[in-house]
Amino acid sequence: MELNRQNAQAALQMASETNPGPWTEHSRYVAQACENIAARCGHLSTEKAYLYGLLHDIGRYPGVSSEKHLIDGYRYCMERGWEKAAQICISHAFMIQDVSTSIGTFDVSEEDYQFMKGFVANAVYDDYDRLVQLCDSLALPTGFCLLEKRFVDVTLRYGVHPSTVDRWKKILEIKDLFEKQIGCSIYSLLPGVVENSFC
Ligand SMILES: [Fe+2]
Repeated sequence: MELNRQNAQAALQMASETNPGPWTEHSRYVAQACENIAARCGHLSTEKAYLYGLLHDIGRYPGVSSEKHLIDGYRYCMERGWEKAAQICISHAFMIQDVSTSIGTFDVSEEDYQFMKGFVANAVYDDYDRLVQLCDSLALPTGFCLLEKRFVDVTLRYGVHPSTVDRWKKILEIKDLFEKQIGCSIYSLLPGVVENSFC
């Protein structure tokens, strides 16, 4: 199946019906942030950036789950031939390429855990992986927000883990990397970020 806006939006719409929740609006904002930042980078496709952002959490379609949503999303995309989107369904949660840096619970079989461990360690990340990692931390279900606000939002829900601070540092590094490429603050590309961060 071709990966285009129509198919990706239809996929998210169906998933929002099988597992309704704030995650679908979050996904739409992640997609918009990815598109806006990619448009300023020069070397990235805005279309791909949008699609990868929109689909990064598609593995939530079967219902509420923890790290299982990563491998469910991977399989969902691979079944449709969307290989890079499938990679990002896993890679977006591992800005550090070590499965033990997860903040979630591995509600998966031992076999799936071993697959994810190897996948994360061996994946070759490019700027699309890094863009979705960054934008995942820039979007609440209500809109764009300061990275640090999203960090606290996630930590309040998932708790503090041994890798929490290293994960924040990595995202801040990725922010710097993109800001060097675009020559401005990422926040200048996110409409409503001030209002939504201070609400
Ligand atoms: Fe997300």
